[in-house]
Amino acid sequence: MPDARLTPVIRLAPAKLNLTLAVVGRREDGFHELHSVFVPLTLADRLSLAPARASAREDSLHVTGFDAGPIPENLVLRAIATARATVGEGPGRPPTPSLAARLEKRIPVAAGLGGGSSDAAAALGGALEAWGAELDSERRLRAAASIGSDVPFFLRGTPALVEGRGERLTPLKGVHGHPGILLVTPRVAIRTPDVFAVFDGIRGAGDGSVRMSSEHLAQELGNGLSATDLVARAGVLASANDLLPAAILVVPGLQGMKRALTRTLGRAVGMSGSGPTLWTLYPSLAEAQAAAGLVEAAVAAGTIPTLGDGPPSIIATTITTGHEEGTS
Ligand code: C5P
Repeated sequence: MPDARLTPVIRLAPAKLNLTLAVVGRREDGFHELHSVFVPLTLADRLSLAPARASAREDSLHVTGFDAGPIPENLVLRAIATARATVGEGPGRPPTPSLAARLEKRIPVAAGLGGGSSDAAAALGGALEAWGAELDSERRLRAAASIGSDVPFFLRGTPALVEGRGERLTPLKGVHGHPGILLVTPRVAIRTPDVFAVFDGIRGAGDGSVRMSSEHLAQELGNGLSATDLVARAGVLASANDLLPAAILVVPGLQGMKRALTRTLGRAVGMSGSGPTLWTLYPSLAEAQAAAGLVEAAVAAGTIPTLGDGPPSIIATTITTGHEEGTS
């Protein structure tokens, strides 16, 4: 029998988009109660985990692609450590030798697309697989939630209504077909706690309209919605993010960029998560790619302003159901 500990594990870690994000209350622990429809995207990081050399005493991580910040703070290392602690040591437990991780970052970082959380979920599941360790779904969920609020969603990575702090998941059928989505991420990293802090200062809780849109969409996606029907709802969805006013205060210029995108594309523009990624929806990938060309030209011509450290990342991708890509 092949030794499971010698098997390198390769996983896709998909990005997510919040089609809706209602903040429905503030909790005693400082976190916020959410009602949010999450969908996975085809855009994904790639994570590989292999046994470290026998002499290595610590897990290691090598990152290519987008700059993911300091390696010791990376959630991949935190997730491997959490997996090891959860499996525990002792008789009957599989050994959990050090792992060498490689991460290809294709998802913009600190952008509202959940890339770091998705990498963490992939690392948690991947480490358990590399060690041949079993963990029931309840303990897996708790381990994921201890790493970050968005991590539980990525354990399955299929469309879901996400509630509570992020740990209450109701799977949804999602969207039939592959609607295209254009992501425009200004080169300014946003810290999620900053956006929630400003949100608390200006409002304390959403006014309820976003929650109504979110409940309605969750119901519709529970039965499954066609790409055309989803695009027809883009105007409502673009306004269905309670964190948008706060993100606009945290990132000066985001409002101007959003307006310029709306003008250039003639479509409703939404924001994912706590931002700053802005999105527009299309019936197909080809149309999202054509829109990406228009935005690139407008950025080059200066009709879409540049924020932060350079031109925005412009990525055309699709919304998926997360089943067919083998990401779970
Ligand atoms: O859980 P995570 O570390 O990703 O959360 C980052 C920050 O975002 C938290 O410290 C908190 O300020 C805020 N947050 C929140 N309510 C949530 C999720 C995140 O207030 N449901």
